[in-house]
Amino acid sequence: MRYGQNISLFTSFRGIYEPFNHNRKIVGFDTWEGFPDVDKTNDLDEWKSGDYGVPDGYENFLSNVIQVHETMAPIPSIKKHQLVKGDATKTIDKYLKKHPETIISLAYFDFDIYKPTRECLERILPYLSKGAIIAFDEINVQDWPGETQALREVLGTNNFQIMHSPFRANAGYLEY
Ligand SMILES: C[S@@+](CC[C@H](N)C(=O)[O-])C[C@H]1O[C@@H](n2cnc3c(N)ncnc32)[C@H](O)[C@@H]1O
Repeated sequence: MRYGQNISLFTSFRGIYEPFNHNRKIVGFDTWEGFPDVDKTNDLDEWKSGDYGVPDGYENFLSNVIQVHETMAPIPSIKKHQLVKGDATKTIDKYLKKHPETIISLAYFDFDIYKPTRECLERILPYLSKGAIIAFDEINVQDWPGETQALREVLGTNNFQIMHSPFRANAGYLEY
């Protein structure tokens, strides 16, 4: 989530491609305080707890930005996003318990590191639709091995075709 580039794009795409689907909720998880911790085995030594932090209260600013995007699309009276602050390995269960209506068609992982990618990927499996897209911002990337390792352990990197945009080397996605 961090500065919210991706969530802003997803909000715009929803406005363009599914303007009337007010049930297509976009939910973003972040500490907005950087990495809570870094795995000694599966992430590189150079990354530390607190890396990628943002200024205090940034999530409120981001929520306003997303709200502006929603206001420019149909049905602005229904709020269609939620930002969940905290360690996602803990907040994900609370969110899913509170929202049993959840069916996930797109999960975009950009934690960069192993533990939250692995744990959140495991937790969302029962909520994915067939054909859901699971995307990773750093797949097959030397500086960020954790996302790939998490995928390998949870779903296997040999069970799915992994696709890439020809314009972006680091990110990749698979169809579940
Ligand atoms: C590269 S940034 C994400 C950038 C984001 N996709 C954007 O569009 O701005 C990685 C983010 O993962 C978050 N993160 C890492 N581990 C986390 C965890 N366990 N719980 C919540 N957020 C975490 C960090 O706080 C950081 O903001």
